[in-house]
Amino acid sequence: MLETDRMPESEPVVERAAVRPGAEWSDATLTAAERETLAGHRGGVVWFTGLSGSGKTTVAQQLDRRLHAAGKRSFLLDGDVMRDGITKGLGFGREDREENLRRFTEVAHLFAEAGVIALVSAIAPYEDARERARQRIGAARFVLVHVATPLAVCESRDPKGLYKAARSGKIPDFTGISSPYEDPPVADLRLRPEDGDPLAQAEAVWRVLERRGFLSV
Ligand SMILES: Nc1ncnc2c1ncn2[C@@H]1O[C@H](COP(=O)(O)OP(=O)(O)OP(=O)(O)O)[C@@H](O)[C@H]1O
Ligand SMILES: [Mg+2]
Repeated sequence: MLETDRMPESEPVVERAAVRPGAEWSDATLTAAERETLAGHRGGVVWFTGLSGSGKTTVAQQLDRRLHAAGKRSFLLDGDVMRDGITKGLGFGREDREENLRRFTEVAHLFAEAGVIALVSAIAPYEDARERARQRIGAARFVLVHVATPLAVCESRDPKGLYKAARSGKIPDFTGISSPYEDPPVADLRLRPEDGDPLAQAEAVWRVLERRGFLSV
């Protein structure tokens, strides 16, 4: 192992934690509220759910830029990017999808605790998994955006050629084709193609964040 590969100064932190009585330790814990005061806005999770090709990543990227330009701390947790790392190796059967969403939920929750607005773009086809995310993160900190682009429109866009492959049977368990997508019965916002281009759709999400008090402390 290279010298530079070592975690710098990790031992003293562990020692301090070990000798602190519990109460003192919890008094010393920096709270989410303190972090939000420093950030100047609230931490939270904006979850974009919808079919592949609906525009989750595109709209979330626009919102990320918009928030950044306005001095808000945000971070995009994207399904495709996460599958390169924290959810690597998970497939698309029901169990693996549940585990995929559990990991998204946990990571997004930590970002929210850190006073950051986490933008999640992940298909999240099951209502019970989305509901678990809401419970875990806390309803006050959770915003669900249903990118409700109809299947026919997603399929006509098909930027990754996935629908074509799924229709010819090359991709099993493909959401909307051979695996279900449960429309969220309740959402903070539903985006449809007639709502405009991705920038206009991101603006609509911004207004929800403003209305729900996420953009200030
Ligand atoms: N409001 C919009 N109007 C027109 N085209 C859009 C709109 N939003 C997204 N698109 C286009 O739709 C395509 C799919 O978008 P995107 O990759 O963001 O989908 P996604 O929901 O993230 O899909 P996946 O789940 O496969 O990652 C892109 O080519 C994008 O430019
Ligand atoms: Mg995407």
